[in-house]
Amino acid sequence: MGARTEGALVWDKRDDMVVHESEPYNAEPPRGALADQVLTATDTFYSRNHGPIPRLEPTSWRLRVDGMVDGARDFSLDQLRTEFAAHTVLATLQCAGNRRAGLIEVRDIPGEDPWGPGATSTAQWSGVRLSDVLAAAGLSPGAAHIAFDAPDVSQLADPPQSYGASIPVHKALGAETLLAWAMNNQPLPAVHGAPVRVVVPGHIGARSVKWVQRITAQRQPSDNYFQATAYRLLPAEADPSDGLSLGAVAVNSDILRPDDGASLPAGPTEVAGYALAGGDRGVARVDVSVDGGRTWRQAELDDQRSPWAWQHWRCTLTLPGGEVEIIARAWDTSAAAQPESPAQLWNPKGYVNNSWARVHVTVDR
Ligand code: MTE
Repeated sequence: MGARTEGALVWDKRDDMVVHESEPYNAEPPRGALADQVLTATDTFYSRNHGPIPRLEPTSWRLRVDGMVDGARDFSLDQLRTEFAAHTVLATLQCAGNRRAGLIEVRDIPGEDPWGPGATSTAQWSGVRLSDVLAAAGLSPGAAHIAFDAPDVSQLADPPQSYGASIPVHKALGAETLLAWAMNNQPLPAVHGAPVRVVVPGHIGARSVKWVQRITAQRQPSDNYFQATAYRLLPAEADPSDGLSLGAVAVNSDILRPDDGASLPAGPTEVAGYALAGGDRGVARVDVSVDGGRTWRQAELDDQRSPWAWQHWRCTLTLPGGEVEIIARAWDTSAAAQPESPAQLWNPKGYVNNSWARVHVTVDR
C-alpha cells in the first residue's frame, strides 16, 4: 500500500490527498477540491503535523490553565462544556508554508515540504471562548501573551520538543478565538487535535495548537521552538537569529480552477479561486489577468459568510488559443495587494508566499 492510500485510510482523508509526508502526516487536497464550497469537508481539510499524532482519551484529558492567573485551574472536557457557553466560528486556517512550492522554484529550501495552495481550508469550529476560560481563572492585567502546550513531540526541534506556541493577549481575548472540540458539527478528529484544540482565526495555522493541554498566561511570548525559532520570516541573506515572528496572515489568493497544466477547449472558461485577507481585514477585490498583469478584470466575489473565512471568487474569460498564463491577485481592506513575484519574497524557511497566483493552461485554437 502506498503512503498516499495509507495516510488517507488512517486519518479518514480522501484518497487523492497530496501527501508530502506520511510520518508525520502532512497532506493537502488537490487544488480543485477546494473550489466553490465555503466549508471544506473534514476529509478534504489539509493536515500539518510536526510529530506523531497523539490519540488522547477525552475522559482523562485535562486542560491546565496557569501562569499569571489568580489560581491555576484544571478543566475536564465535561467542565468546559458545562461551565461555559458554547460558540461556533466559521474560520479558515492557513499554514504559513502554504504555496511554498512557488518559493522553492526560485531557490531550493532544503528540509521543508513543497506545499501548494491547499494548506488552506475552512471549517465550522465549535467550543468555548478562550477569553471565558481565562476570565474564570482570573487573568492578571500584566499578562501580555497566552502560551499553549501540546503533548506531541517533534524531532524537528533540537533537542526534540513538544509542540507549543503563543498569541498576544488581545488576540486571546477576541471573541473569535476558541478552544474547539468540534469541527463541522462532528467531534474533532484525532488528526485535527482531539479532544480540544485552539483555533486562532486570522493568524497563521501554527498558532492553532492541537491537543492543547496547558495554557499559560505570561509576560513574554512562548519560548517553545515553534514560536521562538520556527515560523519566523527570516531575511533572505542575513543572520538567521533575526526575523519576524509570524502572527496575522497576509492577503493571499490562489486559482483553484482550471487546474495548472489543464488543456481547455476554445470558448468561455470559468476561472475560480479563493482569497483570504488575514488578520481582521477583509477581502476588498480580486483581479484576474491573462496578459502578464498589463490589464486586469475584476472577479465576482462571493458574499462574506464570516469575517474569519476566505471568500471564493469567479470570472468568465475567453482565453486566447495556445499557451496562456492566468494570473490573479487579491486586495484587502487595508489596500494591501499581493506582490507580483515570489523572487521578491523568498526567505530561508519558505513562509508567506502571497505572490500573484498563476496557472498555466493550453487552449485549443
Ligand atoms: N499543534 C500541534 N500540537 N502540533 C502541530 O504539529 N501544527 C500547526 C497547528 N497546530 C501543529 C499544531 C500548524 S503549522 C498548522 S498549519 C495547523 O496546526 C494545521 O492544523 P490542521 O492539521 O488541523 O489542518
